[in-house]
Amino acid sequence: MGSNSASTRQRSKPRPDTELLVDLALKALPEGGRFVDLGTGSGCIPIAVLANRRDASGMATDINPRALEMAGRNAERNGVADRLLFSQGDWFGALGSEDRFDLIVSNPPYISSEVVETLEPEVREFDPRVALDGGPDGLGPYRIIAGQAANWLRPGGKVLVEIGYDQGAAVSALFAEAGFGRISVEKDLAGLDRVVSAHHI
Ligand SMILES: C[S@@+](CC[C@H](N)C(=O)[O-])C[C@H]1O[C@@H](n2cnc3c(N)ncnc32)[C@H](O)[C@@H]1O
Repeated sequence: MGSNSASTRQRSKPRPDTELLVDLALKALPEGGRFVDLGTGSGCIPIAVLANRRDASGMATDINPRALEMAGRNAERNGVADRLLFSQGDWFGALGSEDRFDLIVSNPPYISSEVVETLEPEVREFDPRVALDGGPDGLGPYRIIAGQAANWLRPGGKVLVEIGYDQGAAVSALFAEAGFGRISVEKDLAGLDRVVSAHHI
């Protein structure tokens, strides 16, 4: 399972797995671009992006208010709080009707409910279940993100989602069904499928 186990720890640096998502986000953001991170946890993704892109601004959402409090503190500590807005809510429900973005990023919960039950107690007790559980097949959050992302993207916008190593085909198919194009699966340094990239066409 690996990737989801450190979601809301007090870290403001992305985990090694998530660095790929940050690198791809830095490349995808146009000059002066605006992005949103859905399910931001500690805020490590938008903080890393904004620390490297002084021209950019972002929004960070989470359903968990405690995660957002931590993300806010981390943003202050890293000097990016003036360019990062926070909003609590259920995926796109956290956004305002006028919000539009050049880029949507997310590292959502993607472990199936059944597998969450089998995780080591220290993982289950450390991370709230909402940070781990991706529903019966682990794909629930991707269905929502792929299904609704186009409504919130500017023309030519892009989505980058972190995935489990065996979810590349299934998540790509969800974006294809939703009408996205130029869909690719990017590998991490270990050679494992780690991020799905999709363009709004
Ligand atoms: C795997 S963690 C990722 C955290 C952080 N983005 C990272 O990469 O370390 C998933 C995050 O999604 C949030 N989340 C779960 N369900 C959500 C929902 N319905 N709407 C918004 N955020 C949600 C969790 O609270 C958690 O912070």
